[in-house]
Amino acid sequence: MIEVDQLVKRFGDVVAVGGITFRVDEGEVVGFLGPNGAGKSTTLKILTAYQPATSGSVRIAGLDVLTRSLEVRERLGYLPENVPVYPDMRVEEYLRFRALLKGVGRKEVSAAVDSALDRCGCREMRRRMIGKLSKGYRQRVGLADAIVHDPPILILDEPTSGLDPNQRVEVRKLIASLGEDKTVLLSSHILAEVEAVAERVVIVRKGEIVADGRPRELVEGAGGGRHVTVEADGEGASVEGALRAVPGATELVAAETGDGWRRYELSFGEAGDHRLAVAEAVARAGGRVRELTSSTPTLEDLFRRLTVEEAAA
Ligand SMILES: Nc1ncnc2c1ncn2[C@@H]1O[C@H](COP(=O)(O)OP(=O)(O)OP(=O)(O)O)[C@@H](O)[C@H]1O
Ligand SMILES: [Mg+2]
Repeated sequence: MIEVDQLVKRFGDVVAVGGITFRVDEGEVVGFLGPNGAGKSTTLKILTAYQPATSGSVRIAGLDVLTRSLEVRERLGYLPENVPVYPDMRVEEYLRFRALLKGVGRKEVSAAVDSALDRCGCREMRRRMIGKLSKGYRQRVGLADAIVHDPPILILDEPTSGLDPNQRVEVRKLIASLGEDKTVLLSSHILAEVEAVAERVVIVRKGEIVADGRPRELVEGAGGGRHVTVEADGEGASVEGALRAVPGATELVAAETGDGWRRYELSFGEAGDHRLAVAEAVARAGGRVRELTSSTPTLEDLFRRLTVEEAAA
């Protein structure tokens, strides 16, 4: 449905996109993630035929975006990073104009605009001037614009940016419902949100793909497993020895807490509940436990590992 092959985009000396290859199959909802400046918006602009690539190719629904850009745009709904709406138009007037431009028939325009306004929660703003809307409502109008011609493919650049928490939940639901019968590629900085709507994520850093897969599998594949943190007293060396011997433990970091106790962070290669084994190991070594917690790494942890720590290295 969306096929990106060896895509490169340079701006002078700046390599914004360094040769990326990925695909989004029909009906998939894929999150496109990366830190500021990673090349997400640049990639999405090329995918939507708004900007030419330096090299490489993009096919949307089997059509090359360079040579078949008009047909591509009819099949696409695009929410750009900076919603370019006309300040002197009224919301409804703007959406009618956009719907006609995108090939909606004259007879169908009113119904298409009403439905887009409803789905994006901006019906009550239909007669307002766009220039006088709040940022969040402008974003919603941008979303309504993206879906007004009911395209099979949606490309959304940070769809929830500028929205309040309630509206974020609404937009997340909207994306989930659109995802039932559309192909969606969305960029976002809010990882929990992406995890909630996307079945797959592509993570980019400095114009290159550093991960591509299902969030759970990526997290576990990256040595995710589980972490157990325990605060214990007792003789440091023997507690440490006992913890290292807990079956499945792969890594141990010990630190003083400052009040005579020690905090041990233990990683396990396999997911599972390791708390009891940890507590028993401490007891066998003659220590007492005052706190014991277990955590599973999140997509956010993986994202930080892939994009912050490696960048610093
Ligand atoms: N028109 C342009 N001219 C020159 N450099 C550009 C242009 N557009 C983007 N860049 C550069 O390309 C790189 C990628 O930018 P891009 O906007 O694609 O990042 P992004 O991943 O969308 O970041 P953000 O999360 O901040 O939106 C940046 O270094 C940026 O400065
Ligand atoms: Mg961007």
